[in-house]
Amino acid sequence: MTQGFTLWLTGLSGAGKTSIAVAVEHELLARGVRVERLDGDTVRQGLSRDLGFSKADRDKNIERVTFVARLLSRNGVAVIAAFISPYRAARDAARRETTGFIEVHVSASVAVCAARDTKGLYAKALAGEIADFTGVNDPYEAPLAPELTLHTGEETLAQSVATVLAYLEDRGLIPAAQPAASEDSL
Ligand code: ADX
Repeated sequence: MTQGFTLWLTGLSGAGKTSIAVAVEHELLARGVRVERLDGDTVRQGLSRDLGFSKADRDKNIERVTFVARLLSRNGVAVIAAFISPYRAARDAARRETTGFIEVHVSASVAVCAARDTKGLYAKALAGEIADFTGVNDPYEAPLAPELTLHTGEETLAQSVATVLAYLEDRGLIPAAQPAASEDSL
């Protein structure tokens, strides 16, 4: 059984957490790794559908996700968690409770995220239509000592994904990619 780990992506809405998580998930599956992706956008339609965005609700959301990630990671599953998870204390609890916790700060400025505004939420938040929107009128506590920081405003998705995969490979958490078959070996 391969060693489980918890790759935890934290950052503002629109910073690129989901895109990176999906791409890393696909790559891990291609390498035969057992993987489960937990993402705020889907977890909030299921496990956390009763929760809003107050500090208490966000803490509860992250507590539930941490619980699931704990069960999976201790049983050899590679967990990829993509949540704003704006509060340091909640992320630190996830670090304590899960196996092989790796904190990845998916870092992009509010200006960059608002310019992308893939869901149109920044426009609403900046117009005062959302009361507690992270980075606009609700806090985001950036990690103090993340294992990785990805500057998604300045690098491509492929570069961010390559950085994550190299980190996991270097620690023996995932197998190296199979080299493409050459003409000679066919
Ligand atoms: S967390 O703070 O509890 O970690 P989570 O990652 O699950 O948040 O969900 C964030 C997603 O909810 C965002 O990507 C966005 O689409 C949506 N959302 C809706 N309202 C808010 C809000 N007030 N602040 C941040 N995200 C919001």
